[in-house]
Amino acid sequence: MKNLLQLLLITLVFTFCSKKSTEPDPKPVNKWPFDPPSSVPLDAFEMNRKIWRGFNMGNALEAPEEGEWGIVVEDEYLETIADAGFTSLRLPVTWPAHCETEPPYTIDKEFFARVDHIVQEALKNNLVVLLNNHHFDQLNDDPVTNGIWLEKLWEQISEHYKDYPDELYFEILNEPHGKFTALIWNELLAKVLTMIRKTNPYRMVVIGPVSWNSPDYLPTLELPENDRGIIATFHFYNPFQFTHQGASWAGDDANDWLGTQWIGSIAEREDITRVMDKAVEWSKLTNRPLYLGEFGAYSTADDNSRYRWTDFVARSAEKRDISWTYWEFGAGFGAYDREKGEWRDYLLFALMPK
Ligand code: GLC
Repeated sequence: MKNLLQLLLITLVFTFCSKKSTEPDPKPVNKWPFDPPSSVPLDAFEMNRKIWRGFNMGNALEAPEEGEWGIVVEDEYLETIADAGFTSLRLPVTWPAHCETEPPYTIDKEFFARVDHIVQEALKNNLVVLLNNHHFDQLNDDPVTNGIWLEKLWEQISEHYKDYPDELYFEILNEPHGKFTALIWNELLAKVLTMIRKTNPYRMVVIGPVSWNSPDYLPTLELPENDRGIIATFHFYNPFQFTHQGASWAGDDANDWLGTQWIGSIAEREDITRVMDKAVEWSKLTNRPLYLGEFGAYSTADDNSRYRWTDFVARSAEKRDISWTYWEFGAGFGAYDREKGEWRDYLLFALMPK
């Protein structure tokens, strides 16, 4: 009898333990408030429409250190942008200033955490976030040698953000220029894209052409034919003498351009629509959606001209299904006056007419 009881006890303990060990671990507390990324291909045209109207958070994370160019991103800015009806935020980031400058080019953990914070705050405000790789001088100076640096950065960035929702888009490189030829760029972008796709099979990837993302160079872009998760981008600052009058980085003549107006004459308008129509032709031919990643006129131009130009460029893009992000939120081109804590009404109205 005693033996029988012992046997029963052993059997019970065994059953209990073995059952317990096959039970799944308790569900981890889910602190992540966002949906996981898609496990099926997404429609790039539809995803491009989600960008619709947005801002570049310029002069912040693409400065050598955030704050050095005057602007530190406050959480409330993202709310302000969303509250005004905008739907996207392009976040220019100079990753090469925050990583080892030799292989394996490890990105600084604290910097990653700072970018995470801004990305998450923007997502919480239902903004689509376009995360890019901005001033990369070493790459523009020597794209063949330093191409691997860009690949290694994207290996880390794409691994880091692979579980983020579909509303986070990657932009491989801002304005390739310098020693970049179309051939070198096409080869490098294909390598980087392959790298990104290992961890982010369906994430939207934004790619623009050489010559500072000039729309004239869209036809030189060779995008992997079978990858349909791509949005093509271009930048627009024409007429440059108007948009960059007095800008210290725009060359020695920039001060001579001060006083240049944009009155919106037929000829001035046609100079803009001609470029956009050509871009749209390319978009139709290649079946790629178009996104105007940057456009803006510097604060040295007069307010009326800035209003007219900004309104005309934004509406011309919208008419052609080109989504856009204005350059930029709160610095020298800024639509928002950070000191006063209010919008510059004429620019807000140009971007988001009532
Ligand atoms: C480009 C540059 C940025 C500049 C802007 C307007 O995006 O990277 O630094 O402010 O164009 O010139």
